[in-house]
Amino acid sequence: MKKHDIPFTRNTSRRSFLKHGTVAAGAATMGAGVLGKALPALSQEVDDGGGKPNRGDIAILRFLQALETIEADLWRQYAELGGPSVATQTQGLSTNDLKDQNGNRVTTGLAPLYIGGLLILDTDMPQYILDNTDDEFSHETWLKNYLASKGADIVELHKFANLPSSQVTGVPNIGRLTNLTQLTVDTSWWTRYRSDSKNPDLGDSFENAIPSLATGQHTAIPRTNADLIADPNQNSGVGTHTQAIAFTAGFHFGTIEQGGSSLYPSLAQRVSDPEVLRVLLSIGPTETMHFQTWQDKAGNATQITDTDTGFPGSTGATVTFPNLNGGINPNSSSQGSPDPGVADEFQTNLIMPEPTFFLNQRLGPISIIRPTETRDAAKGALQGLIDSGLFLGHKTKSGKSDGFVEFLRDLAEDADEARRQLS
Ligand SMILES: [Fe+2]
Ligand SMILES: [Fe+2]
Repeated sequence: MKKHDIPFTRNTSRRSFLKHGTVAAGAATMGAGVLGKALPALSQEVDDGGGKPNRGDIAILRFLQALETIEADLWRQYAELGGPSVATQTQGLSTNDLKDQNGNRVTTGLAPLYIGGLLILDTDMPQYILDNTDDEFSHETWLKNYLASKGADIVELHKFANLPSSQVTGVPNIGRLTNLTQLTVDTSWWTRYRSDSKNPDLGDSFENAIPSLATGQHTAIPRTNADLIADPNQNSGVGTHTQAIAFTAGFHFGTIEQGGSSLYPSLAQRVSDPEVLRVLLSIGPTETMHFQTWQDKAGNATQITDTDTGFPGSTGATVTFPNLNGGINPNSSSQGSPDPGVADEFQTNLIMPEPTFFLNQRLGPISIIRPTETRDAAKGALQGLIDSGLFLGHKTKSGKSDGFVEFLRDLAEDADEARRQLS
């Protein structure tokens, strides 16, 4: 996890991108024009001439850079609270040396009881959280460097990092882009990847694994020390409230990473330059590696119910983590009798992508990433994040929007206007 220096940063707006966004003809020339004196050295050093992204490619890369910055922001919060600490190092000698995009060390594992809740999902959870975070830092930084090397404007979101940090002791009080305390978590990816006949690209919809997470607002991190409750009567020593927060995080990890798993192949269909295609094809599967890990771990959640009342920041929401292995649909109000068909949709160890229909039912089922429809893929991915409550609180002091979501919508629109062009 060596530091990779960010060569430079620029605040840019969509307008400046639209004005300067075409870099197809001569990246170095364009770079000098757009970025003045700051760029040429980097451009010549990094750009090996292998890629000549056009305007659409740049729009897609900028949108991905923005989303990777958002991923990095939320994963950092998870790592600070639930990453490894000396006390939770479970195996091996690899040291925790997470550094942020500016090369500053990130302290992890600040909420031992939250970690205790995560350990129910897997004893390696803190390490996996740290490494997912490190991966997102690298995605953000590398895409910035790549855009800069092509003479394109990078996206600077940090001016919008005004949301509060968790107040758990030790968490740095820095502004955040994402809000992990009022999430409405869509867990329909669970049944989407277990279905043997349905595909969202064929118009199908899917039931949630954890229906109660899909309504109300749930915190996935301890907001204050009050959310961290010990309970000696539990084997884990962790109180039900804290356990529910950890399980919410466990499912949110899967929700985030399945989104990346679909977004990269969806957008790759509309890039033009082979090197940009290589970039997307090389990052995307790492999101899928994350997703596969998280959906396996989420299935280890035990049956609990918690209502979030009486704590600072409480939303009143109730969450229930059901038994997904009993052949009972957790979306049904009636319990019914166990059904093998229901088991196919919910059983926790069915984590390999079940073959399903793709493109045309006459071709038969196939194990695939789903969805991969490219039309409006960027706007769809962004809308999913907005609907989840991840950006709640982006307001100015006067109560108006701070422009963050609007800016992201502009980036998504630009990305969805990109069309594959063969020269
Ligand atoms: Fe990523
Ligand atoms: Fe990711």
